[in-house]
Amino acid sequence: MLSIVVCVSGGGTNLQAIIDGIKKGSIRNTKITGVISNNPGAYALKRAENEGIPAFCVSPKSYGCREEFNEAFLEKLKELNPDLIVLAGFLVILPEKMITIYRGRIINIHPSLIPSFCGTGYYGLKVHEAALARGVKVTGATVHFVDEGTDTGEIIFQKAVEVLEGDTPEVLQRRVMEQAEWVILPKAIDEIAMSEQGEEKT
Ligand code: GAR
Repeated sequence: MLSIVVCVSGGGTNLQAIIDGIKKGSIRNTKITGVISNNPGAYALKRAENEGIPAFCVSPKSYGCREEFNEAFLEKLKELNPDLIVLAGFLVILPEKMITIYRGRIINIHPSLIPSFCGTGYYGLKVHEAALARGVKVTGATVHFVDEGTDTGEIIFQKAVEVLEGDTPEVLQRRVMEQAEWVILPKAIDEIAMSEQGEEKT
């Protein structure tokens, strides 16, 4: 059984897609052992609580400096001891040590077709604003492994989504979530969980 920790900062619709995927069996062999948010007001925490999933807030604001926050965050991860860490709208720069410790075991969902509209400063609605400003006709989402760079790790899945006449950033964001993010993030977790199960047998 793949034990995952989901890191969140906001609404948690991707977290919900993972919860629903596990419930309906499209994500197999997987258990969410914890949800961590940097933001105490994140609705994602409520979603976790509603499902009886242990939910924690580790906020940079509660610590004197970044280093202390990083240590507290790493401590919480160590306690939960996940096989895989899923960044589902987690808008925090990861401690470098975390990437070393969990190399190849952290995945992220990004709301564009990498390498377009990604890297520093491209997160949430800003990604869709930039896509509309550039006038692209197709956008989408990417699930990738996390390395030291911003959105530079190995790509696992991508899915394209059409941009339509009259789209606002909010409308486009919702379409990208529905048609791409909520599909490929659960699919990536299922694939990783099933490949681990295969390894356990051999
Ligand atoms: C999602 O669109 C996710 O792709 C994006 O934040 C949103 C979180 O929504 N992540 C990034 O921009 C990371 N660079 P959610 O809290 O409803 O899942």
